[in-house]
Amino acid sequence: MSKITIAIDGYSSCGKSTLARSLAQKLHYNYIDTGAMYRAVTLYCLRNNIISNSTVDLQKLLSELKNIEVSFAYNTLTKTSEVLLNNEHVEKEIRMMEVANHVSAISSIKEVREKMVLLQRQMGKGKGVIMDGRDIGTHVFPDAELKLFMTADNNVRTQRRLDELSSKGEYLTFDEVKHNLEKRDHDDSTRKESPLLQAEDAVVLDNTDISKEEQVEFVIKLINDFLLTRDSLVEKI
Ligand code: DC
Repeated sequence: MSKITIAIDGYSSCGKSTLARSLAQKLHYNYIDTGAMYRAVTLYCLRNNIISNSTVDLQKLLSELKNIEVSFAYNTLTKTSEVLLNNEHVEKEIRMMEVANHVSAISSIKEVREKMVLLQRQMGKGKGVIMDGRDIGTHVFPDAELKLFMTADNNVRTQRRLDELSSKGEYLTFDEVKHNLEKRDHDDSTRKESPLLQAEDAVVLDNTDISKEEQVEFVIKLINDFLLTRDSLVEKI
């Protein structure tokens, strides 16, 4: 079966990466978590005093951007690709709340986005890729064959994120996590550079009340419908 590009955008913690990972395993596609890329750059900034007292030193960031290398490696145990910062595995560190609190500021910087988007386009050029983020269907791959826009109730998203953080040993209150999600959604949707937007041709998936299995089934059906329509059109030509 011919491979396509699948773009998944949407709000924070509404299950984009969970869905993308399951689909990638099922379809034997590459999964690229673009949020992890911005988180890795943010981690670098925190470690190197580019962010201090919640202020970003833009000049220092721009002069060090060439030293920040973000890549992915496939983990055969977890059966998914994981992000590397200058060849170091940082999948665990980038999920910490300190990174979440600063990632919107870093991801709003034009030069950071340009560098990440260039990498994302290189990684996706062979098709057979599932990429999730905020601007994949609108900016990175506007020609993606399938675009999803995911959303879910704020309280449900908060609880999911709270569970994820506590499973990693980070204990926060419901309100702290909800505030972070809502602030990031607001900042990501209102920034100047490639804000979070629903692409006109995206299929909306609200997963407030849908199981993970039902979501995968829903998307597989969309892919099959797309391929059937495309292949029958090709036959007719
Ligand atoms: O998907 P995530 O929560 O791990 O993403 C972290 C942040 O990165 C998010 O608040 C916005 C930013 N981001 C972005 O600006 N563009 C993307 N394509 C992906 C993420």
